[in-house]
Order: sequence, then structure tokens, then C-alpha cells
Amino acid sequence: MKAPVMKRWQAAEFGDPAQVVRLEEVPVPVVGAGEALVRVRAASLALPDLMMLRGEYPMVPAPPVTPGQEVVGVVEKAGDGFPLPVGTRVVGGARFDIGAGGLAEYTAMPGWSAFPVMEGLSDEQAVGFVGSFHVAHIGLHHRARLRAGEVVLVLGGAGRTGSAAIQVAKALGATVVATARTAAKARFCEAQGADLVVDLSAPDAAGAIDALTDGHGVDVVYDTVGGEAYAAATAVLARGARVLLVGFASGTPARPDAQDMLMRDYAVIGTLSSFRDDDEGTDTLEALSAMLSAGQIDPPVTAVHPFDDVPAALARRAEDASGQTVVLLAPTALT
Ligand SMILES: NC(=O)c1ccc[n+]([C@@H]2O[C@H](COP(=O)([O-])OP(=O)(O)OC[C@H]3O[C@@H](n4cnc5c(N)ncnc54)[C@H](OP(=O)(O)O)[C@@H]3O)[C@@H](O)[C@H]2O)c1
Repeated sequence: MKAPVMKRWQAAEFGDPAQVVRLEEVPVPVVGAGEALVRVRAASLALPDLMMLRGEYPMVPAPPVTPGQEVVGVVEKAGDGFPLPVGTRVVGGARFDIGAGGLAEYTAMPGWSAFPVMEGLSDEQAVGFVGSFHVAHIGLHHRARLRAGEVVLVLGGAGRTGSAAIQVAKALGATVVATARTAAKARFCEAQGADLVVDLSAPDAAGAIDALTDGHGVDVVYDTVGGEAYAAATAVLARGARVLLVGFASGTPARPDAQDMLMRDYAVIGTLSSFRDDDEGTDTLEALSAMLSAGQIDPPVTAVHPFDDVPAALARRAEDASGQTVVLLAPTALT
């Protein structure tokens, strides 16, 4: 019997993302125990996709590249032990690491990464939710133990993960400072709820943070940028601050200085989007669901592209990394 086929965007070589991706016909993934075959309805397109197509992403050391890390779709077939039934509308990870990325009609989704879509979220809003809102709550609440009234500094506030962190930090009762390097991104950060937006490389940035906090400094840093931004952020810390390492959009990881941490009494904490245990997962999902119901968080979708428009979507995302870029698929049937 002929194996079923489908369409998937992929690249045979590293290079300019918009130039190297091609829409190919490939076999539908065969899923094993603990995985599901998911019919994709929407795929998120984010910085890691650009990085992996350029050859800058450690988890994809060699071509071919199949971008698309997070999808929303419907469980079509569930392998043994997959935790959700056929027909569930799920959000979760795709196996880009083994050549089965989510910019495709179907993808394999591991059970540990799959969540039923929360009530009230459209496909477009749900598709980046794990890699942006889950990680924001895990970092700010579980890792940094953020308290209402504390000051949070979000590095890369306009980005997909940064904008979610602004919203979640506000919902947790914090005062939020965000960084942005253009006026348009500064306005975007303000629209997400930031109380102050600074360009950390500008000479007056530390003074503005000092004025906002009456000289106290920031209690928590949410670092999605790394490099020089991390170094600049550690100059404005309050005593007992917690610095969350979330990502390195600058291309250069943060380089914590152990002596500085000791002498100035702050902690640096790695932050992942996956839960350490079931209790943590339940707590985060309930908290985010309550924030959604109360209208405290609202995933900011800034661009929606049809499935055949992926090269243009990649080019646009490389130009403007604000909020969430989504690729929407038309319904398909296995052929
Ligand atoms: N830990 C986790 O589980 C987790 C989950 C999701 C993402 N991440 C990581 O978090 C990082 C950010 O991802 P994202 O999807 O939020 O990215 P994004 O949407 O592209 O946003 C990144 C932001 O960083 C700022 N930035 C500063 N310097 C930059 C530079 N040299 N190049 C590009 N952007 C720069 C940009 O704002 P300005 O231009 O205004 O500075 C941009 O808006 C990535 O490293 C990603 O892998 C980690």
C-alpha cells in the first residue's frame, strides 16, 4: 500500500530563511509510543525557526531543516500512552529535532509537550502559548518567586516571549520595565502593559530605572536577549535580585560573573518552558487560565500568513520581531 503523503516546508541547506525553504511532498510521520499524529491547524513562526534555517541553532546541527517548533492541531492518531484522545484540539511541540517540524500538514507530537487548548484561545493565539506564556509563568512565579509590588525588567519586551512576560508580570502585580530598541517596539511594549520602556544601551536608561524605583533597582530580570543586554541589566539590580535566563536573541548567551553574584547578592536561574513536576504544571495551567478569564493576558498576534506564504512570513519576521507570527493551514485529509 502506498504510504500517505503530505506537504511540509523544509530546507536542504542552511542560508537566508526565506530563500532556502521549499514546500516538499513527504511521507506523513509514523508515530510511536507516547506520540500522536496531529493534523496541523496553525504553526507558530519564531526566532528559533529563523536561527535553525540560518544554521545558528544548536538542536539542528546539520540540514535538512524542518522548521516549526509549536503547533495547534487536532489529534488524528494517538500512539500507546499518548495522554489525550483522538479528536482533542491540542497545542504542543513538533519534532523539528528529528526532521518532523510543524510547518507541515501533519506532525508528530510527544505526549509530554501536548496540552488541550485553553478555553477562549483562538488557534492563532494558542499556537505560541507554551513557548511564551507557560515559560513566563514558570520563570516569574516558580523560579523567581515574584511577589506583587516587585519590579521586573523584561529584556526584549516586544518579542514573542518578552511580550508574554510583560503581561504575566503585570497580572502577578509587578511593576514592569521593558527594553526595546525602536520607538515602534517601545509602543508595542507599552500596549502589553509595561510601565516604563528603555533602550538599555542609551546613557539615560539606568537613571530612568532609578527614578521609577526610587533608587531600589529591579528585583527580577527576564532575559530573552543575553549578551550585552544581560551585562547591562545586572548593573541595575536590587539586592536579592533573581535573573532568569530564558534565551539569547542576540546570538550571544549571557555570561554570569560568579564573583559579582556573590558580592552583590543575586541569583541567576535557568528557565525552561517544561514543568518540573505535575504540581507545577497544574498550578501554572490554572493560573494562566484564570488570567485569561479575567482578561489579564491576551496573546498578541501581530501577523497571520497562509500556509503557502511561508517564505514571506519568514522575511517579515526577520524584519519585525514583535508579538506572535502565525501560519494558518486549511483543513486537509490524508491522501
Ligand atoms: N527557555 C525557553 O523555554 C524558551 C522559550 C521560548 C523562547 N526561548 C528563547 O528566547 C529567545 C527569544 O525568543 P523570541 O521568540 O521571543 O524572539 P523574538 O520574538 O525574535 O524577540 C526577541 C527580541 O529580542 C530583542 N533583541 C535584542 N537584541 C537582539 C538581536 N541582536 N537580534 C534579535 N533580537 C534582539 C528584539 O527586541 P529589540 O530589537 O527591541 O531589542 C526582539 O524583539 C530565543 O533565544 C529563544 O530561543 C526560550
